[in-house]
Amino acid sequence: MGQRVRPKTGKAGAALSLALLVLCGPVQASSEAKASPKGDAAFGEYLSGTCVTCHQISGKSTGGIPPIVAWPEDQFIAVMNSYRSKDRENQVMRTIAAALNDEEIAALAAYFGGLILQPDTKK
Ligand code: HEC
Repeated sequence: MGQRVRPKTGKAGAALSLALLVLCGPVQASSEAKASPKGDAAFGEYLSGTCVTCHQISGKSTGGIPPIVAWPEDQFIAVMNSYRSKDRENQVMRTIAAALNDEEIAALAAYFGGLILQPDTKK
């Protein structure tokens, strides 16, 4: 065994690990703040496009479609899971929920849960 050769990281390596630190820092900090894994609201916003063709973003209920904004996240997740497991009736929502995974449901819960129910939604 000769001399140990240390892998050369160089400046690029240092810059990369610094960038990773910066990127991961806030994410870790926010997930540590809560015990339960929190959904990514930005991802939820991205996914919400399909939902808001039926559900009003203002929280107004229209034609039998209930509002889904400003719900507690765990409640939202529980309801979505009950559609997914077919415990709750409604073919439309069963189909929609079946296409979502846990991460996506958590993200939607975070996004819709963070929206404010508009008081003046009657038209
Ligand atoms: C094609 C129209 C349509 C789309 C698209 C749709 N929903 Fe629904 N959703 C409904 C209807 C209708 C109900 C009421 C079903 C019932 O009576 O159980 C409902 C119910 C719900 C409920 C339960 C509300 C309550 O008060 O019990 C949640 C939560 C929900 N939807 C979330 C979503 C999410 C999240 C998406 C997008 C991923 C979505 N929905 C997309 C039509 C839709």
